[in-house]
Amino acid sequence: MQTLPTIAILGGTGKEGPGLAARWLAAGYSVIIGSRQLDKAQATAAELNQKLNTQRAKGLENSQAAREADLCVLTVVAEAHQAALESLKDALQGKILVDATARVDFRNPIPPAPPSAGRIAQDILGPGVRVVAAFQNVPSHALKKNLDQALDTDVLVCADDPEAAEQAIALAKAGGMRAYYAGNLDNAIVVEGITSLLISINKRYGVKTATINITGLEAT
Ligand SMILES: NC(=O)c1ccc[n+]([C@@H]2O[C@H](COP(=O)([O-])OP(=O)(O)OC[C@H]3O[C@@H](n4cnc5c(N)ncnc54)[C@H](OP(=O)(O)O)[C@@H]3O)[C@@H](O)[C@H]2O)c1
Repeated sequence: MQTLPTIAILGGTGKEGPGLAARWLAAGYSVIIGSRQLDKAQATAAELNQKLNTQRAKGLENSQAAREADLCVLTVVAEAHQAALESLKDALQGKILVDATARVDFRNPIPPAPPSAGRIAQDILGPGVRVVAAFQNVPSHALKKNLDQALDTDVLVCADDPEAAEQAIALAKAGGMRAYYAGNLDNAIVVEGITSLLISINKRYGVKTATINITGLEAT
C-alpha cells in the first residue's frame, strides 16, 4: 500500500490552516502544523488530535515543519505572504508548496492586481520549489463542518508544473473537495479575485460559506 505524504501547513494556527488540517487528518494523512511559535503550533496540533481522536498531528516551528514534510501548504495571513516566503526559502527547496493566499481585505473586498500570490511565491522561491496555487476560494467555515462529508466546493488549481498540480488535486480530493487544473500561476490572479466576489456575497447574504462550483464537465 502506498504511504500517504506528510503535509506541513505553514501558518497553520489560524482559520484556514486547521480547517484543511482537520480534513486531511480525517482522510488518514499525517499533518505538521507550522507556526512562528513552537508552543502555538503544538497547541493547535493537540486540539486537532483531540477533535479527530488521532495522534497524527504535531506542531513545529514553520521552517522545521517545511523541512520534515513531503508537501507544504501555506496559510499565513495575506499581509505576511512575502516575508514568510523569504524566511522559508531555504527550508522549502526541493518541495511542492501549495499556496492558499488570497490577498483580499475582508473590510474592503476588491480583486488584487497581478502578479498572483502564487507567481510572487514562485519568483521568491526560485525553480527549486514547485508552487501550486489552490484553496483560495475554500472558506474556513465550510472546512470545519461535517468532516465525514464531502464539501460542495470546487478547487481551482493553478501551477506551472502539471505534475505538482496533480498532487494538489489529489490533496483536495482527499479532503472531500472537487478540484480541477485551471492553468498556470498567472491564472491564479483570477482565483484570488473570485475570493473578493465571495466575501462580497457572504456580506450581502449574511453567510460565511459562499464558494464556487464549475459546471459543464464530468467530475474527475
Ligand atoms: N479564512 C478563510 O476562509 C480563507 C479562505 C481561503 C483562503 N484563505 C487564505 O489563507 C491564508 C490564511 O488565512 P486565515 O484566515 O487562516 O488567516 P489568519 O487566521 O489571520 O492567520 C493565519 C496565520 O498567519 C500567521 N501569521 C500572522 N502574522 C504573520 C507574520 N507576520 N508572519 C508569518 N506568519 C504570520 C499566524 O500564525 P502564527 O502566529 O502561529 O505564526 C496565523 O495563525 C490567507 O492568505 C487567506 O487569504 C483564507
